[in-house]
Amino acid sequence: MAKGRDTASRILLQNRPQGSLDEFKITGVIMKYKAFWLNDSDELEVIDQTLLPHEKKIHLIRTPEEAADSIKKMIVRGAGTIGSVAAFGIYLSAKSHSGDYESVLKDSDMIRKARPTAVNLEWAVNRMMQSLEGLSGNDLIKKARSESIAISDEDVKRTEEIGRLGCGIIKDIMKKKNINKINVLTHCNAGWLGIADSGTALAPVYEAKKQGIDIHVWVDETRPRNQGALTSFELSENGVSHTYIADNAGGHLMQRGEVDLVLVGADRVTGNGDTANKIGTYLKAAAAKDNDVPFYVLIPVSTFDFKMKTGFEIPIEERNEDEVLFVQGLDENNEIHKLRIPPVTTHAKNPAFDVTPARLITGIITEEGVVDADEKSISEKFKYPAGSQ
Ligand code: MRU
Repeated sequence: MAKGRDTASRILLQNRPQGSLDEFKITGVIMKYKAFWLNDSDELEVIDQTLLPHEKKIHLIRTPEEAADSIKKMIVRGAGTIGSVAAFGIYLSAKSHSGDYESVLKDSDMIRKARPTAVNLEWAVNRMMQSLEGLSGNDLIKKARSESIAISDEDVKRTEEIGRLGCGIIKDIMKKKNINKINVLTHCNAGWLGIADSGTALAPVYEAKKQGIDIHVWVDETRPRNQGALTSFELSENGVSHTYIADNAGGHLMQRGEVDLVLVGADRVTGNGDTANKIGTYLKAAAAKDNDVPFYVLIPVSTFDFKMKTGFEIPIEERNEDEVLFVQGLDENNEIHKLRIPPVTTHAKNPAFDVTPARLITGIITEEGVVDADEKSISEKFKYPAGSQ
């Protein structure tokens, strides 16, 4: 039985046993992916990431407008997840317009514009629309459903492979340094909340944990949106040892030899290996280079934008100043409050991403293998035709 629409978004993900998200039953269905899924009314349900880690609620998405809105407001976030939600948004559009291609095309434009930096969003929308060309009515609706599921199913496989390859690098580093415990630093959240279903930067961490490797993660808080709290939530759910650190602490820990490896995800990687990721990633890469700490970017191949030659071309999202001016958290009575930090007369600037130059990157780990971050290696490996993706 389908759950009532108004109550579905209020359901608490309560008393869930640790590490069993994929088996957890809610609204009568087994979750297909950990952070989002189609319910038994064929509407999209997502974990509301704006409320994590303190409140666990499901947010219901019934229309393409709601899909675009959930991406804009970062109810869903992370390059892969917003691509998946965009694809399901096209499916919802197909249903609401009875498979009329022109109407879906209009909606696809709206969804594509929801956020500018992560190329996976436009990649997913383009793939969906290409697959629907020449179709109409029920055929179009059926294809929209199967293609949107295929995109996320493929991400599940891609991220598993990224995990295996990244874990190989973890083992190599441990062998080379002759250590039996490894300390990884990560920035933002590139786990299963950010892409189905193993994450990118966190996929090797989960694989290492599975293989019994002694691993500890330094989790950057990642102001202003504090995606580090999401990473801490994930790592707690998966029983991985971790410590939350202030954004400015990473360089100091690297100088003291307390970081063996930096793993980050990305929102767009250009043809020369320049990498846009969450604001602050660049500073970590610079500190890693200065301290000879390997710095890897982990992405599905769909995060490459071969149309762009360098990182200067990447559109960098500017978000509302309130994200910098205010913090939100739990007080001692377990109540959530939003508090202003600087004086009420002060304004803030809020660029959401920065670009790490390729020269600071040790390697890029994809589901198709590990590649050096330079134009020659990338173009040879992926044999992309000039000016295309
Ligand atoms: O603004 P966000 O939270 O969507 O930014 C997310 C990131 O920067 C992630 O590192 C990236 O999207 C990879 S998620 C697999």
